[in-house]
Amino acid sequence: MSTPRTVAVVLAGGIGVRVGLGIPKQLIKIAGKAIVEHTLEALEASPLIDEIIIMMNAAALDELEHLLRSGRFPKLSRILPGGETRNDTTKLAIAALEGDDTKVLFHDAVRPFIDDRIIEDCVNALDEYDAVDTAIPSADTIIQVNEDRIITGIPNRSLLRRGQTPQAFRLRTIRRAYEIAASDPAFTATDDCGVVFTYMPDVPIYVVDGTAENMKVTEPIDVHIADKLFQLQSASLSLESMTSIPDLDGKSIVVFGGSYGIGESIVAQARAAGAVVSEFSRSSTGTDVRSAKAVRKALASVKKDVGRIDVVIVTAGVLRIAPLVESPKRDLKDTIQVNLIAPAIVAREAHPHLRETGGQVVLFTSSSYTRGRAGYSAYSATKAGVVNLTQALAEEWEADGVRINCINPQRTRTPMRTQAFGDEPVETLLDPADVARVTLNVAASDLTGQIVTVQVAAMRDLNPS
Ligand code: CTP
Repeated sequence: MSTPRTVAVVLAGGIGVRVGLGIPKQLIKIAGKAIVEHTLEALEASPLIDEIIIMMNAAALDELEHLLRSGRFPKLSRILPGGETRNDTTKLAIAALEGDDTKVLFHDAVRPFIDDRIIEDCVNALDEYDAVDTAIPSADTIIQVNEDRIITGIPNRSLLRRGQTPQAFRLRTIRRAYEIAASDPAFTATDDCGVVFTYMPDVPIYVVDGTAENMKVTEPIDVHIADKLFQLQSASLSLESMTSIPDLDGKSIVVFGGSYGIGESIVAQARAAGAVVSEFSRSSTGTDVRSAKAVRKALASVKKDVGRIDVVIVTAGVLRIAPLVESPKRDLKDTIQVNLIAPAIVAREAHPHLRETGGQVVLFTSSSYTRGRAGYSAYSATKAGVVNLTQALAEEWEADGVRINCINPQRTRTPMRTQAFGDEPVETLLDPADVARVTLNVAASDLTGQIVTVQVAAMRDLNPS
């Protein structure tokens, strides 16, 4: 008997009224890509999935057409219009599928954090069961109320679960459940397991464990949470693989601000890893990163001498601590120019070079970007600006194949820091060499739009001595 095929159906037929951003929520960009693209990446990467179909909101069908041609998702076979309700969308998908034994996984497009383990558990459970749900325990007590908002029941929380997706079925089972449902004028459901549960009560529905991360982007706050989760994921993803420096043989790397601190460490480590490194700074080459002309000239010289540019890193930055009303005007101007305008200028000038190589820009922010603090007004404002610059350019450059990421090192032992804060206990500071290692790993990755936080504790775990 041949092994049945496994098809993942991505349910993207909705609009996302509750998120309220005016575009179907599956198209909202997070970390440089539409939410549905993240979902597709996870499904495409699973060796257990043979084929992927997207059921897309009919009014926005064109928005995803490019994915079929991009070559990024070889398993993606079709993008079909979804239906009026989620269940209508499922029905349309069932009509488009063949084979009684086919294993089919219905997954919400707006749950981009589905992982390999969940997919594997669902697919494997279908060897024994005809219907499978994914769920997590409920942290909240669930109460039942009537129309007058009076509690009518408080079910035992330990037996309650919150349903997620995938919901997985043998095709014949889910098809039959919808056929029976079609003859029920009172049919209502919010998911697909509910249809089997109601109309084929003899079919046991097995439940596999979901994860808290496998959340559904539903309300406006979920967009922020998802954004944060991607940041965390990329940070830990890169930290795990960061015990060594990647092979950079033959890569052409340009560092602006590479004469001391983190920049100096990046230059040294990149060279040791085989890269051709060109370093520009005010002190070493007289290059003023605030000047588009100077940056253009520097990049042109690298293009001429090396022939290509793969990565452009900007570590130049200034930190002056003082209340705004006590800061000389020129300090304010300097902080904004060096910390924010210069990265924008470098990114702008680097773009044509990086488009040729599918290259990457790496910028630096600071943990103060999430919250302005007294004494740091200009500094933290510029660092927040760099984060937004990174995210915006990741979107703008997506089609060009140019990536951009931002490193967020916690307190690092650099001359700039010592000058501002004096001597601090060494164990509370990151070693610039560690930050450089993380930076070069990100530079060698295919991440884009990510803010990668490098934490003292996380680095210490990797260097237990
Ligand atoms: N969905 C679908 N077809 C529909 C409605 C929803 O395929 N007619 C999909 C959505 O695209 C989403 C998933 O089902 O991936 C979960 O539904 P939900 O969170 O309710 O999405 P929306 O209907 O888009 O959201 P809202 O209710 O806020 O409009």
